Amino acid sequence: NILPLIAALAGYLIGSLSFAVIVSRVMGLSDPRSYGSGNPGATNVLRSGNKAAAVLTLVFDALKGYLPVLAVFIWGPRWGLGEGTAALVGVAAFVGHLWPVFFRFQGGKGVATAAGVILALNPLLGVATLATWLIIAWFSRYSSLAAIVAAAFAPMYQLLIWEAGPTALALIIMGLLLVWRHQANIKKLLAGTESKLGQKASAAA
Ligand code: G3P
Repeated sequence: NILPLIAALAGYLIGSLSFAVIVSRVMGLSDPRSYGSGNPGATNVLRSGNKAAAVLTLVFDALKGYLPVLAVFIWGPRWGLGEGTAALVGVAAFVGHLWPVFFRFQGGKGVATAAGVILALNPLLGVATLATWLIIAWFSRYSSLAAIVAAAFAPMYQLLIWEAGPTALALIIMGLLLVWRHQANIKKLLAGTESKLGQKASAAA
């Protein structure tokens, strides 16, 4: 059955829409790859000082993870597609964000997109994971630290409260890739040089 692969390809293409770059371009702002951490993500767009652009980036990057997975749950069953395909499509959208075909495979770290994927795969787990991010971000003011901790907790919540299965596997794969993409952030956190949420940056990456 080739349908799950076609769905995954669609998820990958949608995930490849790097909204940090698209939103910034549409709003006439500088390319987020040219300042701050250089990362095309909501956290770095916030460093431009434009909160609306950061919120739009966050919402669209999350939706590109959320909607493809939701589409599989809604229209998949009539084609015999279930949770396995939904999880595959979610990971594909996440991978598209990290290695976007439309942006020379130079994408972001996947935090917002993973949040969207998780909210669609298991809404309650999504809320628990978002709450984890918020608590760490609130107390530490580090977006990256909050993402790393939330990415580590999400699979644990899934396995402890829900079940092992395609969703758990997707969470583990996304979590490992997400932490790996945060290497530069981890070094900065350990060195005490990571910038706090909302701290503006004009210097180039
Ligand atoms: O959304 C990614 C965030 O966790 C870190 O972003 O720009 O500080 O590397 P940044």
